Amino acid sequence: MTFTQERTIADQVRADFPLLHQQVNGKPLIYLDNAATSQKPQVVIEALEDYYQQYNSNVHRGAHTLSGKATDAYEAARDKVAKFVNASSRQEIVFTRNATEAINLVAYSWGMNNLKPGDEIILSVMEHHSNIVPWQIVAQKTGAVLKFVELTPKQTFDFPQFQTLLSDKTKLVSVVHVSNTLGCINPVAEICTLAHEYGAKVLIDACQSAPHLPIDVQQIGCDWLVASGHKMCAPTGIGFLYGKEKVLLSMPPFLGGGEMIAEVFLDHSTYGELPHKFEAGTPAIAEAIALGAAVDYLNSIGMDKIHAYEAELTAYLFQQLDKIPQIKIYGPYPNSQGEGRAALAAFTAGEVHANDLATLLDQEGIAIRSGHHCTQPLHRHLGIPATARVSLSFYNTREEIDIFIHALKDTLDFFHSILG
Ligand SMILES: Cc1ncc(COP(=O)(O)O)c(C=O)c1O
Repeated sequence: MTFTQERTIADQVRADFPLLHQQVNGKPLIYLDNAATSQKPQVVIEALEDYYQQYNSNVHRGAHTLSGKATDAYEAARDKVAKFVNASSRQEIVFTRNATEAINLVAYSWGMNNLKPGDEIILSVMEHHSNIVPWQIVAQKTGAVLKFVELTPKQTFDFPQFQTLLSDKTKLVSVVHVSNTLGCINPVAEICTLAHEYGAKVLIDACQSAPHLPIDVQQIGCDWLVASGHKMCAPTGIGFLYGKEKVLLSMPPFLGGGEMIAEVFLDHSTYGELPHKFEAGTPAIAEAIALGAAVDYLNSIGMDKIHAYEAELTAYLFQQLDKIPQIKIYGPYPNSQGEGRAALAAFTAGEVHANDLATLLDQEGIAIRSGHHCTQPLHRHLGIPATARVSLSFYNTREEIDIFIHALKDTLDFFHSILG
C-alpha cells in the first residue's frame, strides 16, 4: 500500500490532540476506539475553557454583554452545524444531548402523535440500540408494528428485502447511515426516495458517518438526521437533530419548560419558534460552542480529505488483518482503495474472546472495543456473542496499525499456547 501524500493528514494533525501523546501501561497510547468516541483537538478544549473563563453566561435571556456574547457563540455554532450538513436553514438544527436524545425527540414528539395500531416502522437488524429501543417503546404505546431489514450475504443492508417490506402501512423508516459494527455504508438517498414514494418519513442515524464523510441532508433527502458531537471531535453532552422545517413545524414539543415557550399562562402556553420549541431549559452552552469549534476544525482539514485518508488506512488495515488466519471480519470488504465501507473492523478470533483480546492489548497501550457495541440484535443475527472492534480516525497512522497487528498476533499466539 503506498500512501498518496508525503505527509499524511495524521502527521499534520497529531500535535493538535493532547491526549494522544501519553503512555498507557508504560507504552505509547494507540487509540483505536474512535467509533465509541473521538479524541478532542486543542481548539475544542480551548473553546470550552474560553467560554468558562471569559463569557460564561446564560443564553437568550440576558440583556447584559456576557449573555449576548454567549448567545451569539451558541447560535453561531448552530449556523456551523447547519452548513456542515447542508441544511436549508438554521431553524432545522436542534441541539440535543446526543444522538440518542435526538432519536427519542422524534420518537416521542412525532411517533407518539402520528402512529396508530397497524402502522409500520421499518428499521434494520444492524441498528444501534438507540435506534431500536425508542421505537419499541413507541410501538408498545401506539400499536405500531416494527419490521426489520436483514442482511445480504455480504452483510450489507438488504435493499431488495427493504423494497418488499415497504407498503402503504409504512409510516417511518429509521436506519443507520454507517453501521458501527459492520462498517457498511447504507444507500440512504435511495432509501429516502423509495420510502417517500410510500408516503413514509425517514430518519437517518449519522453517528458514524458525520465524523468521516461529507453529509448533505438535501442530497440524502431525509426528514430527520441525528448525530453525536463526541464522535466528531466535540465534547460529550452535545448532539443535534436535523429536521426538515416543514416536518419540525408539524411536531409538538418534546420537553416543556423555559426557553421553548413564547408565552406562559396559568392554564396553557404558546411555544417558541423553531428550533427553540425543541430546546427546553438551559442548553449545553459550552458544549454547543465547542461543537462549532469541532466543525470548524474538521472543515479546516476537509471532510473529503478525511474520507480519502481514512480509506487508505482502511485498505491497509484489512490487508494486514487478512494475513491472520484466525480473524473473521464482519461486514463488507473494502475495494483496493479502501472504499466501500467505513474505517473500522469488527472481528472474531477463533475461540479467543473479544474481551480477553481487548484486555491484553490494553497492556500494550492499545485501546480497542470489545463486546456487542450496542448492537445486540445484530450480534444475535450473526450468531456471535461479541466482537473486537478497531475503529480509526484521521489522526491514526499506518505505523499504529502495524503495532496493533503485531500485538494482536502476539496475543493470539499467547492464547493458542495456553488453549492448545
Ligand atoms: C450508529 C450509532 N448510533 C447511535 C449511537 C448512539 O450515540 P450516543 O450514545 O452518543 O447517543 C452510536 C454510538 O455508539 C452509534 O454508533
